[in-house]
Amino acid sequence: MSNSPDKIIILGGKGMLGTDVASECKSRGIDYEVFDLPEFDITNEHQLLSLIHPAHTIVNCAAYTNVEKAETETELAFRVNAEAVRMLALSARKSDAWVLHISTDFVFDGTSDKPYTEKDIPHPINAYGRTKLAGERLLTENHCHYCIMRVEWTYGRNGDNFINKIIQKARTLASAKPGEAGQKEMKVVDDQIGSPTATTEAARAICDLISKKPTGIYHFASQRYASRLEVARFIAEKLNLGVQLAPCKTSDFPSAAARPLNSRFDCSKIRPLLNGPIKPWQVSLEEFLKQAQS
Ligand SMILES: NC(=O)c1ccc[n+]([C@@H]2O[C@H](COP(=O)([O-])OP(=O)(O)OC[C@H]3O[C@@H](n4cnc5c(N)ncnc54)[C@H](OP(=O)(O)O)[C@@H]3O)[C@@H](O)[C@H]2O)c1
Repeated sequence: MSNSPDKIIILGGKGMLGTDVASECKSRGIDYEVFDLPEFDITNEHQLLSLIHPAHTIVNCAAYTNVEKAETETELAFRVNAEAVRMLALSARKSDAWVLHISTDFVFDGTSDKPYTEKDIPHPINAYGRTKLAGERLLTENHCHYCIMRVEWTYGRNGDNFINKIIQKARTLASAKPGEAGQKEMKVVDDQIGSPTATTEAARAICDLISKKPTGIYHFASQRYASRLEVARFIAEKLNLGVQLAPCKTSDFPSAAARPLNSRFDCSKIRPLLNGPIKPWQVSLEEFLKQAQS
């Protein structure tokens, strides 16, 4: 790699968000380099140290993101989401680098009846959320120049996400012959509320922050809120999926990891740092669906 101090180092740059951060850097003419498994392991201190020395900006999208498996693979999740972030902070401090670290709404328990602000006290309710919160704390406690951008309900072309799952499941149901897959009714939870956020939009926000290098925690999500069921209805209508959607509750789906019911973010802190307004979720999702069809 080149030693240019202006180069953006994208860790986890082959993941769902990292890929779009790389594309956004490319379209803005920003010099960047991507690092990810299997060649680069963020938990390998030697690799991390040799990488960060010449870099002045690191965007950390690398993470253990399997929320269900984190309940049993907690040690691995902790190494990637927390311990590696501590090493990142220490090496960034040494080389005076600025770190933009990506975190999640899962640091909150979702019991608030308001959108979460950066001042709200985190209280994760599953192992993934606890490892991500530990990562945030290890970054801030180690006194490097940092910024944490929490995102929620993200979806993109390069990953497994709620939007793709809805489309796949609905298509399977719609194409089933009577009796094969039961009735063409699909149950979707109506008690989880948040803002579906395109990784392309999060990537734009990340590149806006890169040009300003602020310090502190920022919440980023699409404008407006919806339940998972409302999002599924929007997709079904736009794609004419031909399934009946019915409401159900999170508690109807047994799962290893508890999910926060309220994932709403208050994004007023980040807004003045962005180059343009945040789009409503319906606008970005419609664009995503159109692109996915073409
Ligand atoms: N997806 C969401 O709904 C959501 C919501 C809120 C916040 N976030 C946060 O957004 C960030 C980006 O996640 P994403 O959605 O883009 O997930 P992702 O697609 O799973 O991306 C994470 C990337 O990190 C890589 N990685 C895992 N372990 C690594 C290691 N030891 N060393 C180097 N790279 C490693 C993964 O590689 P492999 O694929 O090979 O494992 C993957 O390329 C994460 O911080 C996540 O916590 C995501």
